[in-house]
Amino acid sequence: MAPMTRSRAANAENKPVDELHVEYYKQRASAGLIITEGSQVSKDAVGYVNTPGIYSKAQVEGWKKVTEAVHNEDGKIFIQLWHVGRMSHPDFHNGELPLAPSAINPNAQSYTPEGFKDTVTPKAMTKEDIKQTIEDFVNAAKNAVEAGFDGVEIHSSNGYLFHQFFNGTSNTRTDEYGGSIENRTRFFFEVLDAMKEVIPQEKIGARFNPSLNGLFGMTMDEETIPTFEYIIKKLNDYNLAYVHLSEPFTDVSEISFAVKHIAKHFRPLYNGTLMINGGFDQKSGNKVIEEGDADLVAFGKLFISNPDLVERFEHNYELAEWDNDTFYTPGKEGYIDYPTFKEKAKHA
Ligand SMILES: Cc1cc2nc3c(=O)[nH]c(=O)nc-3n(C[C@H](O)[C@H](O)[C@H](O)COP(=O)(O)O)c2cc1C
Repeated sequence: MAPMTRSRAANAENKPVDELHVEYYKQRASAGLIITEGSQVSKDAVGYVNTPGIYSKAQVEGWKKVTEAVHNEDGKIFIQLWHVGRMSHPDFHNGELPLAPSAINPNAQSYTPEGFKDTVTPKAMTKEDIKQTIEDFVNAAKNAVEAGFDGVEIHSSNGYLFHQFFNGTSNTRTDEYGGSIENRTRFFFEVLDAMKEVIPQEKIGARFNPSLNGLFGMTMDEETIPTFEYIIKKLNDYNLAYVHLSEPFTDVSEISFAVKHIAKHFRPLYNGTLMINGGFDQKSGNKVIEEGDADLVAFGKLFISNPDLVERFEHNYELAEWDNDTFYTPGKEGYIDYPTFKEKAKHA
């Protein structure tokens, strides 16, 4: 199950709660491996309303119930560790500017408690900010272990903080974190290296969206794909749980810099376990595995409306449609009220 923000932590502590999160993830425990919604590693890291964190005691206690419930159903669960960087808004930071590699506005929108607002020009991170953020990720990884997670996924994807460092249009730094490919990827590897001191690297995954263009403030250039090729090749020196890649989110057929078939392109570059995501169904998921272009397929939206997706695939049961309107709304509706196929059949 792919990571999906659902914005149900509508409480003062932004903690997961029994009647929502525990139930939601428990219902989906047969996924094999669940990757949770992006969870902010610190107060600074947030950029969307009502997303859960993994930095406070109350949040760890909330997540403990989630992992217990999933483990009781023989499922496995990784938490996605998230820092949105410049995809945030001063409303989340007592009027202070969000952090980013450079002071460049993504010209996007942030989903604040008062609705969507235009992003601002962020504050370029100082060396001290970078050090603190590395510590925040390490702390979050420690908390994840304490909360009983089977592992963590670094959210280095979708235009958020790490992606902002990777990309030359969002990172114009002139220190050792900007300029060359090695420099733009340094922050990610520093986080990874620090994190594997507190959690075995076999329990760390990382997510990338190499051909993201025109969304979340990201614009590709000629160095984008070489940057991701460098990262993926360098990850062969580690022994991560997996590398998780997304197929393009938008039509990139006209973008000369873009790789159109991500799994096919990156599979030969990586020796470890490769997970692919983005628009797959049962047939295309089986195909990408059979063709040897990935080891695992993550399904996102299908899991929103089909908590028993695995069983439905297994028995060729009809799939339920998801409702876009309740992706991020508070409460149970569109969250824990999608029945399994069997429940639905019983009440038909
Ligand atoms: C409601 C929603 C929330 C999402 N939140 C996240 C997130 O927190 N972290 C992340 O990496 N991707 C997130 N994504 C992207 C999904 O993980 C996935 O890449 C995308 O839905 C495409 O896969 P699919 O076609 O199987 O749904 C989200 C997608 C949706 C629909």
